[in-house]
Formats: sequence, structure tokens, C-alpha cells
Amino acid sequence: ESVVLAYSGGLDTSVLVGWLQDKGYDVHCLYVELGQPCEDREAILQKALDIGAKSSELVDVREEMCRDIAFPTLQWQARYENIYLLGTSIARPLISKVCLQRAREVGAVAFVHGATGKGNDQCRFQLAAEALDPTVNVIAPWRMDEFRDKFPGRTEMLAYCAEKNIPVKASASKPYSSDENCLHISYEAGDLEDPTVDGETVIDFGMTVSAQEAPDKEEVVTVGFESGVPVSVNGEQLSAAEIVETLNTIGGRNGCGRIDIIENRFVGMKSRGVYEAPGMTLLYAAHQAMEQLTLDRDLTHLRDQLSPVVAEMVYYGHWYCAKMDALLAFIKEAQKPVSGEITMSLYKGNIRISSRTSPNSLYDEAIASMEKGGDYNQNDATGFLRIVGLPGRVQGTVRPREY
Ligand code: ARG
Ligand code: SIN
Repeated sequence: ESVVLAYSGGLDTSVLVGWLQDKGYDVHCLYVELGQPCEDREAILQKALDIGAKSSELVDVREEMCRDIAFPTLQWQARYENIYLLGTSIARPLISKVCLQRAREVGAVAFVHGATGKGNDQCRFQLAAEALDPTVNVIAPWRMDEFRDKFPGRTEMLAYCAEKNIPVKASASKPYSSDENCLHISYEAGDLEDPTVDGETVIDFGMTVSAQEAPDKEEVVTVGFESGVPVSVNGEQLSAAEIVETLNTIGGRNGCGRIDIIENRFVGMKSRGVYEAPGMTLLYAAHQAMEQLTLDRDLTHLRDQLSPVVAEMVYYGHWYCAKMDALLAFIKEAQKPVSGEITMSLYKGNIRISSRTSPNSLYDEAIASMEKGGDYNQNDATGFLRIVGLPGRVQGTVRPREY
């Protein structure tokens, strides 16, 4: 019998290739390209074969991830617990999807992943996989006594690799765990578990410089939108993944998009996480400014009520479901007028909106201006406030407030 393993080439999933074979499975490794750093993809794929995998393949989902999951999440202005831009959460449903596609191709009986039993990722992998194939068998070795007893820590994994001739990169292990794709890098666990430890002193950041290291000069960048979808940077039309990657470079060198939070995991515990998402942080700021110019007030407020719901669903891993389908249809319709260009000025981690323009602008200088009239008669405000103030005047009469 064969299984498909979501394989990264790191220590844990390399051990899994060996362990699954010890259990009698044929292992098909799938390296899902999300834009994570990797010196040599060929070597990582070859390594799986050297360990004995039946097949070892790469599937590049960067564009699909940015276009079909990250951008709709951006259009919702969805931030988990008001801050986290969901970079890891967004990648997980797609990893499940492509692993199930591969499983169908090779006739595998199970989908195997290396997420622990204490985290969010297991939830996202499993909920997405089961939604796509309700009969799927998901193997999560970290949730099995048998696996944890054999590999209580890194030492045992290294010993196992030595015994099985599994090559291990000599790189010293970092005092934290990280997860990277083109949307962001997350850092948690290890030394970061102590919430008094300053992440800046521990983390070797991969995408951003610190505010102190950033240049002493503002950098200007313009992002173009069509119906709420980012389509260009500094006038150049780019694909979704190219936009994210270009803005990662620009935002990263200006120290934009670092956060350090305590978040509530789906499984209940609080967890400390540090994130850097320079490109997506610029996109959230630009998109919000684009909406300010083009989106109706009441529609914006309705969307704002629902965006925490969307953020929670993405974080928990409820991507493939009827509720999300409906929410995606809503936002697609709502974003129709959100087109134009936003110019931002970046300086040592700060993002300042310096200009906005749109063919669909609802902003009417004639109405807003104190100097002009436009279609607004100040006398009308007298009646408006007479009626809006009615409940307050009645309460003030019946139950006078001290002042
Ligand atoms: N806490 C973040 C999230 O739940 C990041 C998870 C990082 N995952 C990892 N395998 N290191 O989305
Ligand atoms: C893990 O536990 O596998 C990583 C952290 C998380 O999923 O929240």
C-alpha cells in the first residue's frame, strides 16, 4: 500500500519517509512549492528517493495560493485576532488539495503530514482534506504514541537518520521553529515560548530588516487594484505571486510588517508567535486605502463585521465549505468598484498613504468641502439631528443625567 507525504526535506519529514517505509508503506513524496527558501530543490527531491521513496515530486502552487486564497482573504481585510495576516493558515488547504490529487494519481491509501497534535496546522490539513474527500485517511504520526515514543526529540531523530543513512544538513538547529512561504515567515516555540524574551534578540529574520537597519530615507511605492485585486506595482502589471514577491522586497528593506503576538490556537492554548509579512502588510494598507475612496460606507461596515468571521475560518482551516463559498461570492461582488492606485511612503517600518486615485472614487470634493455646497444643504442637518436625537432627548427628560 502507498501513501502520499507532504514532504519538505527537513529533518522531521525525512524521518517520516524512513518510518513510513518501516511500517511497510510505499511512500510518494510531494514537495509543495510555496516560495519557501530552499537552496536546492533537486537535491531535496533526490534525497527522498535516496531514502527509498517510490516517487518524489514538486508542485508549484505559489500563484494559486496568492491569487485564490491570499487575495480573497486580503479583500476581506481578514486578520486573525485583529493582527495576524494568516500566512501559514492560507497555505494549508492547498497543501492538502495537491496531496490528495497526487494520492488519486498514485492510488495512495492515505495522506501523511508532519504537523504536531498540539497545533493549528493539523486542523487545517485534516479539515481541508476531509472536506475534499470525506473518506480520506489522514496519518499524523505526531499524534501517535508509537511515533512519539520512538522519537521523543531531535536526538533520536538524528540517531535514526545516522542508522538509516538519511542525509541531514549540518546546519545548527535554530532555537525556535519557523514556517515560511512567499506570504510570510512565522517564528514560534523554543526560546520564543518565554513571552518576556524579545524576539528581535533571538530571531534571524529572513524577509525584513529591523527599523533601525532600514534606510534613513523614505521609499515611495504605488500599488494598482482592479476590483479589489492587486494588479500592479509601480505601474508594472504583475501576476499575483510576482506582486507579493516584489512588495516583499520593497517592504522588507524598509522594515515593514513585523508583529509579535500571543494568539489563541484552534486547539485552545495561547501561543506566542512572531511574524514578518512585508508584502502582504503593504497590500493590506494599500487595499484599505483603496476601499476608503471607492467603497460605500454601509457596505464597508457590513464587511468589517464579517471579516473577523473570515479570519477565524481561515485560521481554523474551514476553507472548503459552503459558508466560505458564500463569503467569497459576497466579497467578489462587494469589491467590484475597488479599482485605482494607492501610493505609499515607507520609512523604517512605517507605512504612510501619500496619494490615492480611482475612476470609481465616491469622494466628492464639492460635497465634502467647507467652501463649496455641492448636493448638500447645511439646513437639512437641522432636521436630521432633530430626528436622530429624539431617543436621547426622551431619555434625558425621563432620567436626567448629572453633568
Ligand atoms: N501560529 C501560526 C498559525 O497557526 C503559525 C504556525 C506555524 N506553523 C509551523 N509549522 N511552524 O498560522
Ligand atoms: C505544529 O504544531 O505542527 C506547528 C504549529 C501549529 O500548527 O500551530
